[in-house]
Amino acid sequence: MGATKSHEQNMNMTTPKERLSIILPSYNERENIIPLIKKLLNFDEIFDLELLIVDDDSSDGTSTVVKELCKADPQVRLIRRVGRSGLASAIKEGLLDATGDLAVVMDSDGQHEPSAIKDALIKLKKNNLDLVSGSRFLNDSEILGLSQRRADGSSLANKFSRISLSRNYYHLTDYMSGFLVLNLQTCLPSIYKVDVGGFKFLYELLAVSKGNLKTGEIPLRFQPRTYGDSKLDLSIFWDFLISLLHSLSFRLLPRRAISFALVGLSGVIVQLTTTTILMTMLNMSFRHSLTVSVIAAATSNYLINNALTFRSNRLSGQALLKGLMKFLLVASLPVIANISLATTFYNVVARNEFWAQLIGIVVVFVWNYAASSRFVWNTP
Ligand code: GDD
Ligand code: MN
Repeated sequence: MGATKSHEQNMNMTTPKERLSIILPSYNERENIIPLIKKLLNFDEIFDLELLIVDDDSSDGTSTVVKELCKADPQVRLIRRVGRSGLASAIKEGLLDATGDLAVVMDSDGQHEPSAIKDALIKLKKNNLDLVSGSRFLNDSEILGLSQRRADGSSLANKFSRISLSRNYYHLTDYMSGFLVLNLQTCLPSIYKVDVGGFKFLYELLAVSKGNLKTGEIPLRFQPRTYGDSKLDLSIFWDFLISLLHSLSFRLLPRRAISFALVGLSGVIVQLTTTTILMTMLNMSFRHSLTVSVIAAATSNYLINNALTFRSNRLSGQALLKGLMKFLLVASLPVIANISLATTFYNVVARNEFWAQLIGIVVVFVWNYAASSRFVWNTP
């Protein structure tokens, strides 16, 4: 019965098929992506189909195997980007290049089931929505492919996300999802504005659209990965934290300033604890302890910035050591200011090492941010 019906629909030339673009961001998914693409091509029975693979120059040859498929089938297109620039930016690029009326974004590692596309499209049409996302946290959802720790982490991140976004998105249960179906025309203005610093495209899209999109959800059965490993790492968690704070500051504070301040904050903790340890355990004088702890804090700031803030230009090996020397040299001006300010405060104003250090730190932060923005990144 069903087969005859779809056959009739295909034969009916008066109603042209709707155009559907499926965006598959990929990074080292050679083994996973081919079986997925083959399954997705079946959608051409119902849709005028386009598959857009956005590959960030995978080292495992993903783009080579995809290219072979492109040759065989014009419905498959590859965007190969050189210089890995991240998941959210790959999704944005795919969506901006898509030629469909409708678009799907899904993982290319097989963790999202192709059958979810149909459920989401039905929901989108029935309720005249702009966006339907897949949720791992609805009653009918299943999480087969995540460790308990990851699932708990996502669930916590969802709680924070909810309070940082418009009330119109309060009903959603999975702001971290990588599975989306969109009405391209109504979503494009918001897609265009998405800040691609983060990993979580959906969260960013919701944040920049400020409650103006009509949204819904379908339950997902999140599958285990067949080959390879997840690309989610500490730096992605960091990006998400920055995104949250960026939203909470009404998107006024630049992401870089937030990242800079957070790294600086960790340096404050390093400095305060080092001083306390040296003074209480080793009986060192405040002045000597401070010299050591300021250098320790500058070094830890340098290492964390290298791993997170500037990870696209991450230094390693000898260059890491050289970079540290340069960094200490550049930072030595405020370091001297920090030490002399704190010491003066301690000697002249009050013998309180906590406030003495805090004053030094604040002055250094303002100087460092202003100076590095202006001279290192050439921003005003
Ligand atoms: N082009 C591109 N560039 N693709 C990337 C990049 C990148 O830098 N990083 C990851 N991808 C692709 C992967 O190849 C995969 O197809 C998809 O993005 C998801 O990446 P995974 O590394 O498999 O993420 P995950 O399984 O840990 O995370 C999934 O669950 C999260 C919720 O916990 C994804 O669905 C996330 O989007 C989702 O937020
Ligand atoms: Mn995955």
